[in-house]
Amino acid sequence: MKVLLIGSGGREHALARALMADPLVTSLTVAPGNPGTAEIATNIDLDPLDPAALTAWATANQIDLVVVGPEAPLVAGVADALTEAKIPAFGPSAAAARLEGSKAFAKEVMSAAGVPTAEARVCRDLASVRAAMTEFGSPYVIKDDGLAAGKGVIVTGDPDAAIRHAEACLAKPGGQIVVEDFLDGPEVSLFCISDGTTVLPLQPAQDFKRAYDGDAGPNTGGMGAYSPLPWAPPELPHEVIETIALPVIREMAKRGTPFVGVLYCGLALTSRGTRVIEFNARFGDPETQVVLPRLATPLGELLHAAATGRLAEFGELEWRDRAVVTVVVAAEGYPDAPVPGGTIEGVEDAGERDGVHVIHAGTRETREGLVASGGRVICVVGEGEDLEAARGRVYTGVDRIYLSGSHHRRDIARQAARGD
Ligand code: AMP
Ligand code: GLY
Repeated sequence: MKVLLIGSGGREHALARALMADPLVTSLTVAPGNPGTAEIATNIDLDPLDPAALTAWATANQIDLVVVGPEAPLVAGVADALTEAKIPAFGPSAAAARLEGSKAFAKEVMSAAGVPTAEARVCRDLASVRAAMTEFGSPYVIKDDGLAAGKGVIVTGDPDAAIRHAEACLAKPGGQIVVEDFLDGPEVSLFCISDGTTVLPLQPAQDFKRAYDGDAGPNTGGMGAYSPLPWAPPELPHEVIETIALPVIREMAKRGTPFVGVLYCGLALTSRGTRVIEFNARFGDPETQVVLPRLATPLGELLHAAATGRLAEFGELEWRDRAVVTVVVAAEGYPDAPVPGGTIEGVEDAGERDGVHVIHAGTRETREGLVASGGRVICVVGEGEDLEAARGRVYTGVDRIYLSGSHHRRDIARQAARGD
């Protein structure tokens, strides 16, 4: 099977690694990829936001499966163009990707499908924002309606900060925000693989969204993750399929916009039950880095079955009995104003540690060596028989990486490993 993977971040490097481990995958090309994917596959300089160019290349090269990593190509209609050209695409159409692209749309679908989520008001002016804030009370949850790379949401007890964020979002062209009820309880990311009709859950992971230890600092795209979650109910994946993923997939099919790809369910396990915080239409980053090393079922085969509507024949997924932890090394200034260009050292050394591998997230190869080119630069991944062992390993890897001014969290999976 010849596979084309679209994207250039840590998630795509992790996907590339898992795809290359599938014996059915005979060739893998990544557009545009990064220095990490270049080591294990072939990078090609194609614009991920150009559906026509990608489709032409995939047709000319007899690609059997295209896997779309990030959300932006989905919203740009890459999956639509591939489907039109009869190339199996793993990733939703632009219309189905609205589940991620518009929080107001996601709320509407959830309401129609009877899926439990936070109560919300869609607002287009400050007066209605103020009214919604009064209705729901503190802490205030204010979300930019559109795509904002994980940075469009603030959760705060400070009404002035809430209003300032609302003002900034509303100032954008077509600006619209969602104000919603605060959900208490731990968060879980669960990826559900859908072929438009049938849905299979992957194992859950937990992401650490805040920049600094102890969940302090601003929201980021994610600073680390781990899987499995020893504290979560074992029946959670099944429950989410029954009460959340399947009802949404059926609703999307009923509307004539079937959802093929990953329905990423961002969940809060509240005192009143499991609630959806958000949907994404793609794999999560960095959660993918900890879920895929645990998946024993060949990934290429699974994603091809989803892209061709054959998941019902696929059966149960198989899992390896191991724990995985990833820690993100972020550039100085991330998430507000990441400083690019710093030289990265120690990647090879870190990757040679027992049970450790290194995923490139925002790196670039130059004549001076490997340099930082994004906010989240490197994800170190550690594997072990339990979270304690995986944590020990991941941090021996992290401690070998040097990037001037960089920062990372020291507490990824700490509480879960201790069992509290
Ligand atoms: P989102 O982009 O919707 O996932 O929001 C980013 C982060 O904000 C989530 O991972 C949560 O930590 C937090 N958040 C979003 N919505 C809520 C909510 N209703 N209650 C509590 N926290 C929330
Ligand atoms: N880690 C969160 C996300 O991928 O949106």
